[in-house]
Amino acid sequence: QKCPFGVIENYRDRLPMDGIDEIVTLGEGSTPLVPAPRLGAELDSSVWIKVEGSNPTGSFKDRGMTMAMTKALADGSKAVVCASTGNTSASASAYATRAGMTPVVLLPQGKIAAGKLAQAVVHGGRIIQVLGNFDDCLRIARELAENFPVSLVNSVNPYRIEGQKTAAFEIVDVLGDAPDIHALPVGNAGNITAYWKGYGEYAADGPASHTPRMFGFQASGAAPLVLGHDVDDPETMATAIRIGRPASGDLALAALDESNGLIEAVTDEQILDAQAFLAAREGIFVEPASATGVAGLLKLKSESRLEPGQRIVITVTGNGLKDIDTALSRTTLSTEAVEASTDKVAALLDFHS
Ligand code: F0G
Repeated sequence: QKCPFGVIENYRDRLPMDGIDEIVTLGEGSTPLVPAPRLGAELDSSVWIKVEGSNPTGSFKDRGMTMAMTKALADGSKAVVCASTGNTSASASAYATRAGMTPVVLLPQGKIAAGKLAQAVVHGGRIIQVLGNFDDCLRIARELAENFPVSLVNSVNPYRIEGQKTAAFEIVDVLGDAPDIHALPVGNAGNITAYWKGYGEYAADGPASHTPRMFGFQASGAAPLVLGHDVDDPETMATAIRIGRPASGDLALAALDESNGLIEAVTDEQILDAQAFLAAREGIFVEPASATGVAGLLKLKSESRLEPGQRIVITVTGNGLKDIDTALSRTTLSTEAVEASTDKVAALLDFHS
């Protein structure tokens, strides 16, 4: 069955699709690579933002989920399971439902943004709130998949990484080559692993002349890769990356090493400032965790640790509408009530003819 859209259709010859006919897709990928001139001026570089919140369920997870669900369906799975800080559960619920499979999602209780929980609910996810954090949820999800007939669709599933690497392909296809630096948030460390794989494959056989330096950024209260050890009680307002034991940590460290990259921590304050900058100056509304790459580069710049004149791509991973509570928590909603009269509104606005 030919499917006219989605990352599998676009990059089928670079994905492990042998023996698979039926594709599960919602039209993910082909997300905008938006030039960010004001951020570029701050960083003294040419900057593009890869807006992954434009995917069908509002985050980059959809790229991996089309592959993981396509594979699970081909294997005859009836149910899938994932642990999630929110976005994976939203994506898994949508794609599993689309494929006619039952989604089971394990969430750290009380630590999921409302928009993401709403997505899992409306897509018919079997939602289990675990009295623990993401790392506990992932341990349980892995054990369920080992012992029961249910497929694991977290990014430890190699098909997830395969799907997510297509974001690197798209960037090179648009820019004509790889950037000098690619910056992104790091939580469970699947996405940085996937980008590095994609850039490497494109550099190996033609489309790109080189690979970028990978710059990963974690929240300071949940920064195991920066600290060099697991964190038992990770804490950050950027709940999407509230993770203390990144499952793909070793692969991420290898990517940083091979790419001459770096991994650093940024505070919640710096993350929220970056989120506000993107929204108010560039017109791009992302969820807090998604602004971590921007926060990291602004931090490097402020410490005179960023060379000028670089070509920089920053992935913003999820849509701002997923977590409006955090976005509004630092603003006072000032609205003014006025009579339903154009003259009155014009006067209020200080408009004079
Ligand atoms: N940004 C957002 C918005 C995320 O949801 C995640 C991960 C990341 C960044 C980090 O990506 O884990 O590949 O390093 N969210 C997962 C989830 C853990 O369950 O939705 P990573």
